[in-house]
Amino acid sequence: MDDHPRPVLVVDLGAQYAQLIARRVREAHVYSEIVPHDLTAVEIAAKRPAGIILSGGPASVYEPDGPQVDPGLFELGVPVLGICYGHQLMAQMLGGEVGNTGAREYGGTQIHVVRPAGVLLQDFPETDSVWMSHGDGVVKAPDGFLVTASTDLIPIAAMEDPQRGMFSIQFHPEVSHTPRGQAVMKRFLYEGCGLLPDWTPTNIIEDAVERIRAQVGSAEVLCALSGGVDSAVAALLVHKAVGAQLTCVFVDHGLNRDGEPDQVEETFARYFQVPLVHVKAEDRFLAKLEGVTDPERKRKIIGEEFIRVFEEVAHEHTGARFLVQGTLYPDVIESGSKTAANIKSHHNVGGLPEDMDFELVEPLRELFKDEVRTVGAELGLPEEIVRRQPFPGPGLAVRIVGEVSRENLRMVRAADAIVREEIMRAGLEHTTWQAFCVLLADVQSVGVMGDGRTYEHPIVVRCVTSEDAMTADWAKLPYEVLDRVSSRVIREVPGVNRVAYDITSKPPGTIEWE
Ligand code: XMP
Repeated sequence: MDDHPRPVLVVDLGAQYAQLIARRVREAHVYSEIVPHDLTAVEIAAKRPAGIILSGGPASVYEPDGPQVDPGLFELGVPVLGICYGHQLMAQMLGGEVGNTGAREYGGTQIHVVRPAGVLLQDFPETDSVWMSHGDGVVKAPDGFLVTASTDLIPIAAMEDPQRGMFSIQFHPEVSHTPRGQAVMKRFLYEGCGLLPDWTPTNIIEDAVERIRAQVGSAEVLCALSGGVDSAVAALLVHKAVGAQLTCVFVDHGLNRDGEPDQVEETFARYFQVPLVHVKAEDRFLAKLEGVTDPERKRKIIGEEFIRVFEEVAHEHTGARFLVQGTLYPDVIESGSKTAANIKSHHNVGGLPEDMDFELVEPLRELFKDEVRTVGAELGLPEEIVRRQPFPGPGLAVRIVGEVSRENLRMVRAADAIVREEIMRAGLEHTTWQAFCVLLADVQSVGVMGDGRTYEHPIVVRCVTSEDAMTADWAKLPYEVLDRVSSRVIREVPGVNRVAYDITSKPPGTIEWE
């Protein structure tokens, strides 16, 4: 739509940093989007960018197949910021020189600011700490560029040609290890690109509301509620946009956590003035899942069955043609980008059947999780929903390695309740991104309980810290918490005789096991 803010495009040169850069731009209240590096200048221009950022990347500009950008990108009259690999690429493509200087800098590094410090580094003292990660370095700036910083090892740690709107830095401004990194980002956005910090919750909401209205007109809309923050915020936005045209549906697929269906109904009644249809569909989901152990098949079956349930609800209740989904920007990037391999078909994006009768309404498609939370708070959602930990659409089905039977669900559900309770009791629920359990239904191990031998299943406890689920660290939980979880699970969950703690980060692991 025409009055949608023009994006700052983050050109993904193959690093996980692209998403972090896009988030930092949003934190400066400017709208950003990530795009693959092989877009042509014409395709880039069609997105009407207000600025372009070339991300870092693991490649070297010397490598013959290192990622490139269309040289026309520099001729669009749009300000460009090169970061790390993007810095070297910009230098090389504009007539400067990159040398194999032998100067490797990894981690915290001091830069020396050269006065006048230009636009980007004007907030910096003479010497300041930044985060570096590079082998090669720019040894000659392109004509017209002013060198604004060096290090002990490289002559050109930052350079710019503000007249042409070209800015370029060897260090990473997006990581927290560069204390003044966000100041650099803001100088580029506000001064380099002349943007205003107007991507605020109020504007995000207004923009979303307008687009929803434009998309659905006077038609009826269904929204799947899961109890999580995403679907709640999506529902509130749609409600704000089209009011009584919205009906919310909670599908109890039998794959929920302990007490969840009641909780959803109760919270919903308290905070929403929207009709809620509660569909009890456990039997049909479990029947479809019988004997299925392959993770992707589970996801596909659940996604498909969801839609069939919604089609029935639409048929019986409203005749709705539109279905609201709480798809977030990271889901879009993870399932769609050219550089990222398709790791899992996320139920929100990839797991839906082709032949469904609905057009999707995805009001959160451009938002990161933290933005969804801020928007939710702005819309008046209570803390308990806004700060809720994420829970996957296919529910406990992807937390059972093996068949999704009632018995296996009973074990994983009971163990999960214990883990959540203990995390809550230790006051850790807001410092951990997710804390949950996985049941290894296909594995049994020998144990001893009382006087007897046991031969039962292991439960894996998974607890991670993360900012956006794209990367995650295993949480260094206190031993006492792990100890309580372990003894309670073994004591209270029949069928489980062993508890393991998953100490894999993402990457190389994913957060969920399936
Ligand atoms: P992974 O396992 O890919 O998960 O590291 C990243 C984040 O996404 C959540 N997740 C899902 N969310 N539908 C969802 O709505 C899904 O199918 C799904 N699968 C994973 C996961 O819990 C984590 O927060």
